[in-house]
Amino acid sequence: MEITKVAVIGGGTMGSGIAEVCAKSGVDTVVVEADAAAAEAAQRRIDGSMDKAVARERLSAEDRDAAGGLLSYATSVDSLDDRDMVIEAIVEDESIKLELFRRLDEITPDHAILASNTSSIPLINLGMATGRPQQVLGVHFFNPATVQRLVELVPSVATDDQILATVTTFVQETLGKSTIVAQDRAGFIVNRLLVPYLLQAIELYDTTDVSREDIDNGMMWGCAHPMGPLTLCDLIGLDTIKSVADVLYEEFKEPTYAPPPLLKRMVSGGRLGRKSGRGFYEY
Ligand code: NAI
Repeated sequence: MEITKVAVIGGGTMGSGIAEVCAKSGVDTVVVEADAAAAEAAQRRIDGSMDKAVARERLSAEDRDAAGGLLSYATSVDSLDDRDMVIEAIVEDESIKLELFRRLDEITPDHAILASNTSSIPLINLGMATGRPQQVLGVHFFNPATVQRLVELVPSVATDDQILATVTTFVQETLGKSTIVAQDRAGFIVNRLLVPYLLQAIELYDTTDVSREDIDNGMMWGCAHPMGPLTLCDLIGLDTIKSVADVLYEEFKEPTYAPPPLLKRMVSGGRLGRKSGRGFYEY
């Protein structure tokens, strides 16, 4: 099966990026948002991102216009009866996603693949909310989706091998991304490895005299990472790291995923910032 018509549900940070990637790859893409104001905001986000790419000479004006012509916006899933694939990127709430997958199962054609960009919700649960668990899997893009090369593919135990193969071909050849196949457990591959590393960096910073620069430079110069862990923490956002760590801890109950005291003190929009002379953190 060739995937030529997709829907992206949720046009926030991830959904708008995923929709932009699809449209720029020549795929007819409907973005479904919760209401008209959110749909307009999604369109502004996508148009703004493509305009910026044109200004930076990373995208031609013709290609931007062609992608714009392939994008449409809706406020209900009712029109998705001609889609080959749906990529869900709404808020990370299991009961809301389950309800959406039930509805998508009723509306979309029998052949349609139902994918989720979830970071932590078991794909088997989303699959079992539908009558087609063999056609449900995770397609976990990284932020920003327009820039990051990786997509983690997450089949559940019920996902059909042929569906995984079809989605692999679509993500690699049509969207031009690189894929890895993860197991259906919290953190998949990347976050399961990355989060303990970031938590250790935070702990090292908080409990020793080692400087922020030396921690970051250590990993850049010693391991050829493009940026150090503390810079990465501030880029991802401490709230996000804390919530992913909480999910991993809940799943594995291992101390390596337990948020260190500094992270617990500093969530709610905080950045690591710098240690000040009095031992406070400026953020
Ligand atoms: P976001 O909050 O930026 O966007 C969610 C969007 O979904 C909002 O625009 C909201 O209006 C819309 N929405 C909510 N309920 C809806 C519904 N029933 N129908 C249609 N639209 C609805 O969230 P974000 O960050 O884009 O995350 C989306 C998903 O992607 C989550 O599952 C998250 O775990 C996952 N994810 C997030 C990453 C990130 O770095 N932000 C990275 C990888 C995955």
